[in-house]
Amino acid sequence: MNPRTWPPIDGRMKERAPARIRIAILSDPHYAGAAERARGGDYELRAIANPLLRAAVRLYRHFIWMRNPFDQSRQLDRFLNEIGPVECVVANGDYSCDSGFVGVSDPAAFASAEECVGKLRARFGGRIRFTHGDHDLGKLPIVGDHGGMRLASWSRATERLNLPAFWQLPLENYLLLGVSSPLITLPAHQADALPEEWEAWMKLREAHLAEIRAAFAALQPQQRVLLFCHDPTALPFLWREPSIRQRLPQIEQTFIGHLHTRLVLWKSRLLSGLPPIRFLGHTVCKLTSALHAAHDWWPFRVRLCPALSGIELLNDGGYYVVEIDPAAKQPARFIFHPLPREKT
Ligand SMILES: [Fe+2]
Ligand SMILES: [Fe+2]
Repeated sequence: MNPRTWPPIDGRMKERAPARIRIAILSDPHYAGAAERARGGDYELRAIANPLLRAAVRLYRHFIWMRNPFDQSRQLDRFLNEIGPVECVVANGDYSCDSGFVGVSDPAAFASAEECVGKLRARFGGRIRFTHGDHDLGKLPIVGDHGGMRLASWSRATERLNLPAFWQLPLENYLLLGVSSPLITLPAHQADALPEEWEAWMKLREAHLAEIRAAFAALQPQQRVLLFCHDPTALPFLWREPSIRQRLPQIEQTFIGHLHTRLVLWKSRLLSGLPPIRFLGHTVCKLTSALHAAHDWWPFRVRLCPALSGIELLNDGGYYVVEIDPAAKQPARFIFHPLPREKT
């Protein structure tokens, strides 16, 4: 596709570019279909054997993170009802509640993700692009060692849900790029993968990095990039790639999700550089290692799109609409639309 011309994103679009192109961005819908809801909202607590730890996680879930994790689906419907006219849409990962902890290889999580992706496709057709979230491919829970990334989730996500790991969408002098953060961050998440699947995962990762390198190497000097990457932990890995690092000035903004709330992004900025803590289990090790490398997030001009539901404590969910000048003469405008949860 010629990046200098306005591409019709699907057959229904006008051939001439509008003065401003509007891109809606949503993240972390964590939709729960009937099969996941049937498991009950305390699915994560039931898996914790230690009563003290279970009580601590219960309090954290109740007051801070999300009291009713299976009650977030209505936020997607509200987004679909509320969103105004836009030329394209990006969904930035985590489509189900991943209550089986193995991503969409779990039939219930697959059904949730299929319903969520299906609703978005029914509304936006060929105008929507999707990135992978860690919960789409599977991850270990906060406490415990049951679950993790599964190659079967990869096949289901890429083939049955038709969510490619990498995509690019040229919009005249803009290039929208979507990458798969679970693949990029693999070296930091080896504990999440099965030993017998590790080699295959690393091959997928190498092929993915080759695609990303090629896209950055092919950038034209006048092009600006909007990068979409679910988990910011992937950014230090991209920063280590010379072909990407030298093109950083062309990245106008990197949209991340995963953190669910700006409060966590703010704390990450405050705590970046913290040394990794390796003796308190995989979750603490993962979080502190991510914070250790967080200073490499900021050259990507990171902007968090919070979860559609935000977090319990702040009720700070919502979505973005970005307005770009396709000629890239004017900077993009980023408009946040709050979508506070209604009391039930
Ligand atoms: Fe999420
Ligand atoms: Fe996530």
